[in-house]
Amino acid sequence: MERRDLIIQTGTVLTATVLFPAFLMGCDKSEGPLVGTRRPNPADYSQPILKAISMGMNAPNPHNSQAWKFKLLSDYEALLYVDETRLLRATDPLGRQIHIGCGCFLETLRLGASKLGYGAEYELFPEGEYPLEEAGLKPVALIKVAATSTEPLPLSDSIFSRQTNRSYYEGGLITPSEFNSISALTTAKHSELSLYSEPDRLKQMLDILYEGMVVEAKTHTAYDESRIWFRSSQKKIETKRDGINLRTDGTKGLLLTIMEFIVNEENEESWHKSTAISAFLKSYHKKIDTAKGIVLFKTQTNTMADWVKTGIDYVRFQLAADQLGFVIHPMSQVLQEYPEMTALRSQFNDLLGVQEPSKIQMGVRIGRGKKLYYSYRREPDGLLI
Ligand SMILES: Cc1cc2nc3c(=O)[nH]c(=O)nc-3n(C[C@H](O)[C@H](O)[C@H](O)COP(=O)(O)O)c2cc1C
Repeated sequence: MERRDLIIQTGTVLTATVLFPAFLMGCDKSEGPLVGTRRPNPADYSQPILKAISMGMNAPNPHNSQAWKFKLLSDYEALLYVDETRLLRATDPLGRQIHIGCGCFLETLRLGASKLGYGAEYELFPEGEYPLEEAGLKPVALIKVAATSTEPLPLSDSIFSRQTNRSYYEGGLITPSEFNSISALTTAKHSELSLYSEPDRLKQMLDILYEGMVVEAKTHTAYDESRIWFRSSQKKIETKRDGINLRTDGTKGLLLTIMEFIVNEENEESWHKSTAISAFLKSYHKKIDTAKGIVLFKTQTNTMADWVKTGIDYVRFQLAADQLGFVIHPMSQVLQEYPEMTALRSQFNDLLGVQEPSKIQMGVRIGRGKKLYYSYRREPDGLLI
């Protein structure tokens, strides 16, 4: 039997299973502690800049593609570039989300360095913004670190507990006062954050965000990008140390074993079978419907600097949410700029009264949930140019 065909038969199990993860503070019994196993250990590096980059590597980033590379200028300075071999050309044709990921990296580095006794700062686009063809040739930022005796920065304690939570959410709807508490810790400097948690409005938003996933799943090139970045087994996850996987979705136990047998990302045809897509969409719908609110990040313009600065705001929001016991999950499909998404994206913008050049840069669901499996990262010394 084709591995994928089994999905039809197990679809009920797959979609009906409520997932209760059992990880404790970045550890899982089989894997040991987060730092040094799944994530780089700054203590493995002697140069302060590489210690700081090790901390930055923990940042959220699209598809966990970690599209970052570095040119070391000294023990204390480096240039960050987009790794152009890791662009998501189908779902992110402008490179917008990849640059949001760079902003997440820079701010995670700055906060993380403070835990190691370094002050870090970054200057964006030291050679100016560039067309996407020059990604990888022109730097996104100049990073400088220096020893400091100041205390670790606020939010830095959440770097290793933060994670994207794609599973079921619990508890009540997010109240404006809860949202204000997260926003107060975030201190977003660039994008405008808004919460949608009134039941009718939330449903309206979830419906259109879900439709975005339907469009993605039915657009071969876009959905194929998930296949390319998918790592089905623990062995592949450990070897490649990037990408997305079932475990970070909350799948575990017997269901995980079954799914690891079924899902074969190397078989393009089976990945795109309509039965497989239907089972995935059903499961996805059930999970996102447990959202307790939607948070949008909007900028007045839509430049490369807007993208990177939204990433700074986004990671700060995620760290703040984690600190206050909330979990979040970006749902980016409807915001994406490939032709098949144009009509739905316009509908979404009309619904929100957003007109160009303003742009909704990020849309995330928010709620409360348990800790799941932590994602992996590559080592920075393999990312030097
Ligand atoms: C700009 C951006 C867009 C993202 N979009 C999605 C998305 O649409 N769906 C999703 O499940 N995760 C999305 N993510 C989350 C990443 O997949 C996640 O950060 C990455 O896999 C690493 O996992 P972690 O956040 O748990 O460390 C996005 C992250 C960023 C920075």
